[in-house]
Amino acid sequence: MTERLEGEAGLTRAVELLRAGKLVAIPTETVYGLAGDAREGEAVAAIFEAKGRPRFNPLICHLASLEAAGRFGVIEGAALRLAEAFWPGPLTLVVPLREAAGLSPLVTAGLNSVALRVPALPLAHRLLDAFGGPLAAPSANPSGKISPSTAAHVAEGLEGRIAAVLDGGPADVGLESTIIDCTGPEPRLLRPGGLPLETLEAALGTPLGRDAPTDDTAPSSPGQLSSHYAPGKAVRLNVTTPPESSLFLAFGPGFPAATANLSPSGDLREAAANLFAMLHKLDALPGAEIAVAPIPQRGLGLAINDRLSRAAAPRG
Ligand code: TXA
Ligand code: MG
Repeated sequence: MTERLEGEAGLTRAVELLRAGKLVAIPTETVYGLAGDAREGEAVAAIFEAKGRPRFNPLICHLASLEAAGRFGVIEGAALRLAEAFWPGPLTLVVPLREAAGLSPLVTAGLNSVALRVPALPLAHRLLDAFGGPLAAPSANPSGKISPSTAAHVAEGLEGRIAAVLDGGPADVGLESTIIDCTGPEPRLLRPGGLPLETLEAALGTPLGRDAPTDDTAPSSPGQLSSHYAPGKAVRLNVTTPPESSLFLAFGPGFPAATANLSPSGDLREAAANLFAMLHKLDALPGAEIAVAPIPQRGLGLAINDRLSRAAAPRG
């Protein structure tokens, strides 16, 4: 049985469960995370198990503040500038690991770097503050499936496999955090996400390096495995005139007959917030294929197209 938690009592219970080494799905502004104590090997191992996640794929550590994050990773130079500008918020920084800080090596999959994030959602912040330590939390979905932007999505995928879900309402941003690797001479983009690239580049004053397209066997950010975020149905992209038989996920005005519309007004922020919920919904309807309208490749469109192209990738 997975407990449903909410409100003050829910927060207290979530902290109690996490302290006991249990797994609790927690809300953040990006997507729901499947949280466990990042210092406890058994809790971290249980996260991999509940998700069916490959062990080589390291997890993000969530902290209440920049100061707390700095105890687990070396946050200097560009990383510090980005942290000061965008934390709390939908940004994850990969920085050199402080080896003696006590994180379970399972969190980093044995790497000498660690992914750190300070979430902005007040409920997540209060939970981290009350817990008083680092929480390892990947998105709270079975590995390879669509990420959860509501507590109901979490329950759909993980019911009975985790101790509890703390309900904080639908996620605001709706896409995972943007991940920047700050371990090299220049910061590099590892995953587009909820913080637009343009905003990051404006703060840095320079364009960000991008990863070369990753190969599935040796991902540098392993979340880049190409078939990821996959609905059960086939997904076709950049469709302007959908065949009658397919479920049509539109974007922008002028699609009265669409099965769903990410944003009738063409707002990328609204589209990001709706993306996973609408993919979940369309996946549950009868029909063999989801056809998706073209999404502009700017702002949050970059992350939306990234997730869509993974949803459409051939399944391995
Ligand atoms: O918004 C988010 O980022 C959500 C919420 C829950 O915070 N979390 C999330 O976690 O999306 P997950 O595990 O689904 O994605 C984490 C990504 C993976 O692609 C992983 O490979 C990468 O972060 N990652 C973690 N540690 C890393 C490291 N040391 N070096 C490179 N990539 C790393
Ligand atoms: Mg994920």
